[in-house]
Amino acid sequence: MSNSTVTIQRHIAAQQTLHPEATGQFTAMLWDLVLAFKMIAREVRRAGLIDILGSIGRTNVHGEKVQKLDEYAQDLIYHSMLAGGHVCCMASEERAEMIPLPRERRRGKHVLLYDPLDGSSNIDVNISIGTIFSIHKKVTPGADGALEDCLQPGTKQIAAGYVIYGSSVMLVYTTGFGVHGFTLDPTIGEFLLSHENIRMPARGKTYSINEGNSASFDPATAKYVHWIKQKDPETGRPYSLRYVGTLVADIHRTLINGGIFMYPAAPKPKLRLLYEGAPMAMIVEQAGGRATNGTQRILDIQPTDLHQKVPLIIGSPEDVEIYEEFIQGRDS
Ligand code: AHG
Ligand code: MN
Ligand code: MN
Repeated sequence: MSNSTVTIQRHIAAQQTLHPEATGQFTAMLWDLVLAFKMIAREVRRAGLIDILGSIGRTNVHGEKVQKLDEYAQDLIYHSMLAGGHVCCMASEERAEMIPLPRERRRGKHVLLYDPLDGSSNIDVNISIGTIFSIHKKVTPGADGALEDCLQPGTKQIAAGYVIYGSSVMLVYTTGFGVHGFTLDPTIGEFLLSHENIRMPARGKTYSINEGNSASFDPATAKYVHWIKQKDPETGRPYSLRYVGTLVADIHRTLINGGIFMYPAAPKPKLRLLYEGAPMAMIVEQAGGRATNGTQRILDIQPTDLHQKVPLIIGSPEDVEIYEEFIQGRDS
């Protein structure tokens, strides 16, 4: 039984003291996000009982079928941010364009980039799904948000986090001072600190990739995946394959146990930089891990489009470094 009495609200307030320039807006914005996450968690828990499974009969900007829960999560986060008045604009996987604020709404100094429901293909089969968020400071003059406020490199993020709606609901976030995990106690409706200062193991025992694409892997990825499956007790090989198909779940396992997750360039990149790759890269680096597109650090990539996709190789530093040796032709 957890005896933690550190709620996420208390932790966020304490994190604010680590940011001398913080105005309290940022703290209030995170509290607003937490409220939305609790409400999404409630719907996910009830999904089997109420009419919220299935698709709404349209596809999003990526040509992916939009599920009811995607739309529900999208709307909840949008309205929670409007009510709080701490953002100047938003961008979501579920909206093609940048989301401006209605004329009469109060504007704030922050930008929210988010994937309201990650792992949509797993909603109807009761496999863990998630929400991913990335927060930037407004960089353009004036009150209204602009596209440039959204198109900032991952190094400029002031916070990043995810919620995993799994066997328990966990919120994992960083504001640049370590990675901390909170578990939702549904009996009191509070996220309580359960994983303080998460550190990723230097090396893991699992690799995570959609092996169904192996016929189309680039030669370096194919060579690495073949290598990782060879028997060599000295280097802990063969690794076990673990692939959920929900980025949040695959990254959460990798964060806690170590290992490597790959969604490579071939057959084609699928994961989006702004609200999947960059926030996950900030979290993993803050926990001592590494995140690259194969040749460049994810956090250094200058975005040019809201929904641009990026190859993502992320995980334990030693595992990712070995993969990079294969990609750069330096493998043993
Ligand atoms: P989303 O549901 O937000 O579109 O994200 C799905 C992503 C990600 O969660 C996961 O890692 C990846 O899709 C799995 O893709 P494949 O099914 O092609 O392996
Ligand atoms: Mn996603
Ligand atoms: Mn999504």
